[in-house]
Amino acid sequence: MSLAQDMAAVPERAESTTAKPNPAWTLLRRILVQPKGAVGLTLVVLYLVLAVIGPALAPQDAFRQNFAQTLRPPSAAHWFGTDQLGRDVFSRILIGARATLGIGVGGVTVAFLIGVPLGILAAWRRGWIEAVLMRAIDVMLSFPDIVFALAVVAILGANTQNVIIAVGVVSIPVFARTARAVTLSVLAEPYIEGSVALGASPARVIMRHVLPNISGTLLTLSTLLFASTLLSASGLGFLGLGTQPPFPEWGTMLGDSRSYIRSHPYLATFPGLFLAVSALAFNLLGDALRTIYDPTSRRAARRLPMLNFLRRRTAASAPPAAGLAAAPAGPDAPVVAVEGLHLAFRTGEGLLEVVRGVDLTICAGRTLAIVGESGSGKSTLLRAIGTLANPQEVAITAGTVAIGGEPALGLPAAAVRDLRRRKIGIVFQDAASALNPVLTVGAQLAEAVRAGSRLGPQAVRQRCIALLRDVNIADPERRLEMYPHQFSGGMKQRIVIAIALAQNPELLLADEPTSALDVTIQQQILVLLREIQRKRGMAILLVTHDLNLVARFADDVAVMYAGRLVESGAIATVLEQPLHPYTQALRASAPGAGEGRGQPLRSIPGEPPLVGQLPSGCAFRPRCPRSANRAECAAQEPPERMVASRQVACVFAEEALS
Ligand SMILES: Nc1ncnc2c1ncn2[C@@H]1O[C@H](COP(=O)(O)OP(=O)(O)OP(=O)(O)O)[C@@H](O)[C@H]1O
Ligand code: SF4
Ligand SMILES: [Mg+2]
Repeated sequence: MSLAQDMAAVPERAESTTAKPNPAWTLLRRILVQPKGAVGLTLVVLYLVLAVIGPALAPQDAFRQNFAQTLRPPSAAHWFGTDQLGRDVFSRILIGARATLGIGVGGVTVAFLIGVPLGILAAWRRGWIEAVLMRAIDVMLSFPDIVFALAVVAILGANTQNVIIAVGVVSIPVFARTARAVTLSVLAEPYIEGSVALGASPARVIMRHVLPNISGTLLTLSTLLFASTLLSASGLGFLGLGTQPPFPEWGTMLGDSRSYIRSHPYLATFPGLFLAVSALAFNLLGDALRTIYDPTSRRAARRLPMLNFLRRRTAASAPPAAGLAAAPAGPDAPVVAVEGLHLAFRTGEGLLEVVRGVDLTICAGRTLAIVGESGSGKSTLLRAIGTLANPQEVAITAGTVAIGGEPALGLPAAAVRDLRRRKIGIVFQDAASALNPVLTVGAQLAEAVRAGSRLGPQAVRQRCIALLRDVNIADPERRLEMYPHQFSGGMKQRIVIAIALAQNPELLLADEPTSALDVTIQQQILVLLREIQRKRGMAILLVTHDLNLVARFADDVAVMYAGRLVESGAIATVLEQPLHPYTQALRASAPGAGEGRGQPLRSIPGEPPLVGQLPSGCAFRPRCPRSANRAECAAQEPPERMVASRQVACVFAEEALS
């Protein structure tokens, strides 16, 4: 069946074609539909207007002292009365709005500019930098805000500028902690890994992907902290350490009124009321923003039923493969060559080995599928081959990996980025989280196309359009302007594939690329990958649990158990006549391989061993029906050897031939 026929047979789910919404209007609308948001925003806008035009509205000279009119209660001439120097309180409140707002904005800006970079740095670098920064922040947090601000003003001196610094410094820990937490969660998203796989530098990843995604949370926090900054600044003003006379500022006015609080309460009432309402306004607005950006409202990714078919290939049509370890030399050198690879996770208890001596090769134009139960080390192996293992988390304790003939391990960071960009593409399991939700598809594709190239904007756009056509997305010019949420799941996965293909990789890594899609879309995506592979001749490393899918789409298979490849070779050889008892058990438990319709699926008895708690001898021994307490199985880990055109690690593999 041709690709076109295949597509026609399984039509793509219709996707939305809504026009690109204006993000600012969308945000405004989402604030205003909440009562607290509408009230908070209205009050904040009134406050801002007051700060801008307040001095022009003041009915009297706010600085002119009139000792004949001191401490007058509110009247028609002085709406809020006069203070101890005979100045009009209403005019001073109007003029003081600007200074009060200035301190709040200044304080939040200081805290933002210092706290956010520190938080991002801690999340990005982890290790000792994170430990030192976070402990220092814990120490700062252990002091009450006002005490800390008092100490800063006492050291620097009492004036408006130093009040801004003081109230800013006390808010740094909150920004730093929040920025670290949200950055950590963004860094865990697959699209970050995708960007890193394209060779993006840390600065680019942070500017392009991290900052846009944490901006909502930081905006919310800024609004909430504005209210507390305002109150801290007013506290300092109340203690006589804020804006110095004769300039009015609400906190200072409140402080000046404290001697008259019993005899002339209105003096404290009006500045206090304005302060309280402005703090309330920012709190309400911040609360509304928090509701909008609450990450718990995000839609969880769906896991849908897996494809259920098995198409066996005949041994006659199989390519003459003999295991995966033998690497041809010369022009036919494999795209991937892995030898004796050992990988271990760094844990508090030391190194936990999860990949234990893997040898494999993948040649151009071929697909190798790695299968095995959960926890067998498939993803860890794939990530290490793609140079995506985090060295602070995973230690490569032995072995070599070469991609396209170039060594891929032990390279400096810049060389690793370059290798990834030139040779490796990656397709993630969950396309929804593999795309950055705040960037258009065009922006994300363009980023992948531009990586390391000198193409002009027009050429980049043409290339993006061509890539979308390659993955069978119709009307690509219009799609470039759309956001990921405007596409269906299958379309998103096509876009992820287009991004992975942007640099013409020699190797495409795909870790369960279709398990988040429904059955019909799974088939389309796999057909598409096959078609693209045929055109471009790249190698594909596919990780999956689905033997049916392997049987249909891969050329070679490697069966992984407890960190080792226990059987590997051409699909037709291994799946038609598995020799390792584990491969046999996997094969028997695949949907469609059981007794028939309505019969329960078979499962493999027992549990895979825990990492670091392997049995002596063969790791499969406790579950192996062939072992029957044979001494040879317990003596040592069976070495991989060639039996009937595949590599197999079982002492008694030949018994399956008879
Ligand atoms: N950060 C970590 N620290 C310690 N052990 C880990 C860590 N991440 C994974 N592991 C362990 O490493 C082993 C291999 O994990 P890996 O994710 O590679 O398995 P997998 O075969 O891809 O599983 P699945 O099919 O569920 O995706 C597992 O036993 C897992 O518990
Ligand atoms: S070596 Fe022994 S225990 Fe291991 S798979 Fe073969 S028969 Fe089973
Ligand atoms: Mg995995």
